[in-house]
Amino acid sequence: ARTRRYSFNVTMATVTRLCVTKSVPTVNGQFPGPKLVVREGDTLVIRVTNNINNNVTFHWHGIRQVRSGWADGPAYITQCPIRSGGSYVYRFTVTGQRGTLWWHAHFSWLRATLYGPLVILPPRGVAYPFPKPHREVPLLLGEWFNADPEAVIKQALQTGGGPNVSDAYTFNGLPGPTYNCSSSNDTFKLRVRPGKTYLLRLINAALNDELFFGVANHTLMVVQADASYVKPFAATALVISPGQTMDVLLTAAANNPPSRSFAIAVAPYTNTVGTFDNTTAVAVLEYYGAATSAAALRSLPLPSLPAYNDTGAVANFSASFRSLASAQYPARVPRTVDRHFFFAVGLGADPCQSPVNGTCQGPNNTRFAASMNNVSFVMPRTSLLQAHYQRRYNGVLAANFPAAPRTPFNYTGTPPNNTFVTHGTRVVPLSFNTTVEVVLQDTSILGAESHPLHLHGYDFYVVGTGFGNYDASNDTAKYNLVDPVQRNTISVPTAGWVAIRFVADNPGVWIMHCHLDVHLSWGLSMAWLVNDGPLPNQKLPPPPSDIPMCS
Ligand code: C2O
Repeated sequence: ARTRRYSFNVTMATVTRLCVTKSVPTVNGQFPGPKLVVREGDTLVIRVTNNINNNVTFHWHGIRQVRSGWADGPAYITQCPIRSGGSYVYRFTVTGQRGTLWWHAHFSWLRATLYGPLVILPPRGVAYPFPKPHREVPLLLGEWFNADPEAVIKQALQTGGGPNVSDAYTFNGLPGPTYNCSSSNDTFKLRVRPGKTYLLRLINAALNDELFFGVANHTLMVVQADASYVKPFAATALVISPGQTMDVLLTAAANNPPSRSFAIAVAPYTNTVGTFDNTTAVAVLEYYGAATSAAALRSLPLPSLPAYNDTGAVANFSASFRSLASAQYPARVPRTVDRHFFFAVGLGADPCQSPVNGTCQGPNNTRFAASMNNVSFVMPRTSLLQAHYQRRYNGVLAANFPAAPRTPFNYTGTPPNNTFVTHGTRVVPLSFNTTVEVVLQDTSILGAESHPLHLHGYDFYVVGTGFGNYDASNDTAKYNLVDPVQRNTISVPTAGWVAIRFVADNPGVWIMHCHLDVHLSWGLSMAWLVNDGPLPNQKLPPPPSDIPMCS
């Protein structure tokens, strides 16, 4: 194992997309940001210097951060923001994980441009459990805004309405030929040789869209999700939610096919309340020797992807994931549970208290809000982890996150009369090593909609899922406790539920939130406060001396 040192200089840089040239926050002037390639067991030391006129923090999405919660990064949860001119060193060891993860800013909507791949190779001399690919290619799926994303979310929060949608979906930052005003230089090209196999390391870095993904005339073999191996399965259309990663093998045709360029496409999956961008965006898979003309790029036949609201297709795809559960890669699924939780997850509303021009832009002249168990999360003014380390909770957090929604109702049917949320920084305290089950139930308060929930500090097993209301007496019996997939982000299905299990063996404060940034901004978040265990190696170490302070 090695120590790998990086410098992240956060700086504004000029980028042109869709004929719009603007200055955007970048790491080291790069958009998307630098690719980190490490091995399992390595220690990463990343010195961040903030040279933009805004706060910033960085999150290493999916890294378990075993006893290194100070490096996790969500602003006001594990640290105060790094202020303009300030710096902070993130230090953590990659423990028992390999595959594709990623890093992104975790303050406001800065992750729109501050993101990049984090590739974890197996320890030296250890092979993949699938044939070694000819080449490995990280592919970040993102969203480009012509406007400043910070202004987009600020305006939405001010008016109470939904934010403007992005202007393009991107592949490694490039929008491709679907959009007016993109040149062929704006198209991501994956060049392949006949008969060779490529490992695509897919990352959904989009702010607000779950995405379908496919490659015309090519089948994809899914081998990994969220840096955990899965039993390989073939698919022609993938579904990947913001925060999720997926490693897929693509084998090029044995001989050069007559048409040597194929569309790689993404399109949104959504039942969103409000507007969304229903564009299919394109990159190109090009066999060596082909030189796809700009005109040809625009008319490539698209892979067939499900309709934008095809929840059935999404459920079928999600059901294909199984962990390897082999002798070499065992599934350590908790068979018994110490504490069961039921969280109703969804949108809601706030009264229109500060109208803009007499109205609020949310549903029925209210403001949009989002909640779990009717509580809309309020970011504290200081970091929860610091408060926890000093055991100074007063005025910062309340350890009384509700065990159930305010009034149980038919979650996938008629909404309750009171759709208003309550606000608070409320957490669930857990004693060390508690085995936790959480049933995440979608609600139809403003309309059924899926929510990609991400848990910091842990991977969890997805032991069950279904449509309709969760029913403990029937649904528990159908759980998969043999080979359920292990993930860090799972979509709570539209008008359905999902059950996850994890063992709270990592002390610290860990946020769990919807990875659609607009829902996170509206409060779709909560936190677990995992107490220290009795042994010295079960305690949260003291904070690094350079941890940023809130003034
Ligand atoms: Cu990828 Cu809390 O986020």
